[in-house]
Amino acid sequence: MTVAVYPGSFDPVTLGHMDIIGRTARMMDRVVVGVLQNSSKTPLFSVGERVEMLKKVTSHLDNVEIRSFDGLLVDFVHSCHANVIVRGLRAITDFEYELQMAHTNRVMAPDIDTVFLTTNLNYSYVSSTIVKEIASYNGNLEAFLHPEIAGMVREKSRSRG
Ligand code: PNS
Repeated sequence: MTVAVYPGSFDPVTLGHMDIIGRTARMMDRVVVGVLQNSSKTPLFSVGERVEMLKKVTSHLDNVEIRSFDGLLVDFVHSCHANVIVRGLRAITDFEYELQMAHTNRVMAPDIDTVFLTTNLNYSYVSSTIVKEIASYNGNLEAFLHPEIAGMVREKSRSRG
């Protein structure tokens, strides 16, 4: 049984993330989406909210589970009894950081491999950071986010003033 972990901040989950989750779910027996709890970034959504958002948009995928994690990714991967980390690559600018993470994780846990999926071209420019910026200026989010997630981002952005 091949179990993969797809880790990230998911603040918020975008159509690009959803594309990677769906494609990973077709390739692997089980997928655990790992939502990072404590990051140096200040998130717009709490970890609980991010987990709930991911559950909403993946409810149709039977072999996908959403969990939060804290600490080292490789420890979380072991706790899931997984041996694959999946990351999406949008453009060459992602590559250096992703390569550094993959090497570091492999040195710490040689039993875990990182697999990269190229993002669907339609979403290759989408990032949670850009989406939050558009939301702060009241822009249209539907091209980047699931409609329900777009509504939640708009609401949160409004409440933050
Ligand atoms: O969506 P992001 O913010 O690009 O995801 C980054 C993530 C969560 C994959 C990365 O920050 C991470 O793995 N954090 C956990 C801490 C860790 O294991 N650090 C060492 C890996 S180099």
